Amino acid sequence: MKFIAKTLEGLEQTLAEELTDLGAEDVTIIKRAVLFSGNIVMLYRANLMLRTCLRILVFVKEFIIASEDELYAEVKKIHWEDYFSLEETFAIDSVVSSEKFRHANYMSLKAKDAIVDRFREKYGSRPNVDTRDPALRINIHIRNTTVTLSLDSSGSSLHMRNYRKRVTEAPLNEVLAAGLVLLSGWDKMTMLIDPMCGSGTIICEAARIAANIPPQDPEREFGFKKWRNFDPVLYQMVVDEELAKVKTSELPKIKGYDISSKAIEYATVNVQTAKLSDYITLSEEDFFYQEGEENAFLLFNPPYDERLKEKDICDFYSHIGDKLKHAFPGCTAWILSGHIEAMKHVGLKPSKKYHLLNGSIPSLFARFDMYAGSKKQKWKDKYGDQQS
Ligand SMILES: C[S@@+](CC[C@H](N)C(=O)[O-])C[C@H]1O[C@@H](n2cnc3c(N)ncnc32)[C@H](O)[C@@H]1O
Repeated sequence: MKFIAKTLEGLEQTLAEELTDLGAEDVTIIKRAVLFSGNIVMLYRANLMLRTCLRILVFVKEFIIASEDELYAEVKKIHWEDYFSLEETFAIDSVVSSEKFRHANYMSLKAKDAIVDRFREKYGSRPNVDTRDPALRINIHIRNTTVTLSLDSSGSSLHMRNYRKRVTEAPLNEVLAAGLVLLSGWDKMTMLIDPMCGSGTIICEAARIAANIPPQDPEREFGFKKWRNFDPVLYQMVVDEELAKVKTSELPKIKGYDISSKAIEYATVNVQTAKLSDYITLSEEDFFYQEGEENAFLLFNPPYDERLKEKDICDFYSHIGDKLKHAFPGCTAWILSGHIEAMKHVGLKPSKKYHLLNGSIPSLFARFDMYAGSKKQKWKDKYGDQQS
């Protein structure tokens, strides 16, 4: 079987590595997606275990069309009765990027007619459409005149992990948060701190990664569970195999701080819902008054409030840099920010950087290395002894 795993821009390589680790074959990166092949077990495992994937489509057919009628004819040729029965429902989602075909809804309608007519001609009756909760969700992607037809195996988007009951302002997408942890190369042993944790997305994803906890609840209503060929025994075997890999000892310390009491209250609810209270400690603290830490790993996305004046936000980032240099010797800090100008004011040279999209905001994800404890004198000489 051939699959298409969708992701966020900038996380394609990370997703490809996740897929290779899971044993996927023919892993090929394309824009915002990774193609791979494997059997049905791989499909179950990928939906359950991929942390940087938004949804997985099962490839059915690719063809070229010159008109809407050709789409109708090609769709009608497919043996839809093998995929779902008259009593079951279906829905069609179309995405069109073409000079010739501009109306996605019309293309969906044409394809729907083709499926309905095929059933009617064969059985004298037709299946119903249910756009909200269909048994089979069909995906049509039209690029110029090339149509790719696939089935959505995931159901709702895989970024929805269902532990985030409360969110503060500007929460990160869970797929992005997991992607940041994986991109950062964190060794899963060093203490990880998010000093501006908001609703706690980064620390929840980090804890799950460190403990091998599946990103999805095995009870989740994946799209494939409604398919005719769904094999619950095989699926349970995959679940059992993955749950057996969950680590319960030798886990790293993970800490979340935030200046806002509301953020800590929300993060606490989310951490409890994710059943991660044993892994994560939370406390209300102002980063700039924190005692600091040696040899820890920091990963955070500070505010980049567009309402703030440029100077204020740049000052804020420059204080972050001072604090890191002064109170976090030997630490590595990864910062994600949509304020590229402010990032320059951190005042440390990034040792690595990635350009990512946070929602629609082009963002920089950069790594800063602070001098180690043994070089404490060196940075004291350079930056002095003052508290930032
Ligand atoms: C962009 S949000 C982080 C969102 C978070 N990653 C999430 O997924 O929910 C930035 C956070 O920084 C916090 N913050 C701002 N100034 C701070 C400070 N001086 N010390 C600690 N936290 C601070 C804010 O309260 C806010 O929750």
